[in-house]
Amino acid sequence: MLQKPKGTYDRFGKDADTMLYFRKLVEALMDKYNAKYFETPLFESSELFHRGVGETTDIVSKETYDFKDRGDRNLTLRPEGTAGIVRSLIENKLYVEAKPLKAWYLGPMFRYERPQAGRFREFYQFGYEVFGCDSPMMDAEVISIVINLFKLLGLKGVKVNINTLGDKRSREDYRTALLDYFKPHLNELCDDCKKRYEKNPLRILDCKVDSNNPIMKNAPKMVDYLNDYSKLHFQKVMEYLDAMKIEYTVNHNIVRGLDYYTHTVFEVEADIKGFGSQNVLAGGGRYNNLVENIGGPSTPGVGFAIGLERLFLALQAENIDICENKPVEVYAFAASENEQVYIASLVNSLRLNGFNVDMDYNNRNFKSNFKRADKLDAKFIIIVGSSEVESNTLTVKDNQTKEEYKIKIDDIVEFLDEKLGDNHEN
Ligand code: HAM
Repeated sequence: MLQKPKGTYDRFGKDADTMLYFRKLVEALMDKYNAKYFETPLFESSELFHRGVGETTDIVSKETYDFKDRGDRNLTLRPEGTAGIVRSLIENKLYVEAKPLKAWYLGPMFRYERPQAGRFREFYQFGYEVFGCDSPMMDAEVISIVINLFKLLGLKGVKVNINTLGDKRSREDYRTALLDYFKPHLNELCDDCKKRYEKNPLRILDCKVDSNNPIMKNAPKMVDYLNDYSKLHFQKVMEYLDAMKIEYTVNHNIVRGLDYYTHTVFEVEADIKGFGSQNVLAGGGRYNNLVENIGGPSTPGVGFAIGLERLFLALQAENIDICENKPVEVYAFAASENEQVYIASLVNSLRLNGFNVDMDYNNRNFKSNFKRADKLDAKFIIIVGSSEVESNTLTVKDNQTKEEYKIKIDDIVEFLDEKLGDNHEN
């Protein structure tokens, strides 16, 4: 039997309902921030991610799905959403109106990672990016969106960790310090780290192989190389967060797995007992040089992405069900095959009038039709036989009170409207 590829999953049932409801909730929330919805391709030129996310990151060096198309182009399934949005901003010259431009997206990302609970090869992100604003107020607002969304969902066990990586100059000073520090220890590092030393020494600190090596522990710390501008920016971010009553922990070990960050970086983790190791629900930060690095005019950016599978696992762990209850309002069936056409046309018109309607497609007998209506939790049952067709009336049964009504076909919409009242989904 054919099976889904490793690290992917089929979304159906409750999980699919959760996704649909989550999307609606996000749409409404994004309107509150005047943010605009974006869609960018699921694949982009490989070069975009090399330049954007960074060649020496694990994501690009080990985890991308790369392929050549029939025209011999090097393409990559997007491992994340920021680089694509930045490419679109530049290509469509959206930076002209980026004062600021707020963009959101929701869709699948692809990383060739070792699958485990909460870690997939195809996974969904809800992401948010702001361009054209370098105020620390925006860093705090971006963090607050994640927290507000989690609050809206009722999720309680979350913890915000923040850090600063400083501006370009601070990073250059830090880079030099790392080069000096690691030079005499190069032979003690793994092969990947030797490459990182050449291309991006900051990545050495993110190495999983060498993480327990004492050389790592004594390495210079970014925080000691921050210039005054960078320190002030971070301080202001914290002031804004305090004013919004958002709790956070400053954690100088957060460097993030992507190269584009400057200044503020943050991660929101699930703080739920027994949640498992893949507990980072969201990550993000500021990236003031990315637009320029990808070939656009200097434009600051800041954003986040939430991993939806992990978020839904966290909701489950806290017994939170966000699925909308969408009841079947009417179940209709014909007494015999002769009235099937009549039923089909009735059901069509009820649906056009805004009712949730299901019907019997299989010529069931009365008993199994009533059973089916109960199974669907239908509020009303409409039965049409030959006498109903002749008299242009419908037999309508309230499936809760079991009361039966004879309603003229012209009055059915009014009748149902009145009976279903506020609960009616229009
Ligand atoms: P990221 O930290 O690589 O950041 O991913 C964001 C979130 O996506 C993670 O916190 C996690 O919840 C989820 N995630 C990542 N990999 C997987 C996986 N293999 N399986 C399931 N979930 C996963 C970014 O992608 C940046 N683009 C975020 C950003 C936007 N920074 C600025 N703007």
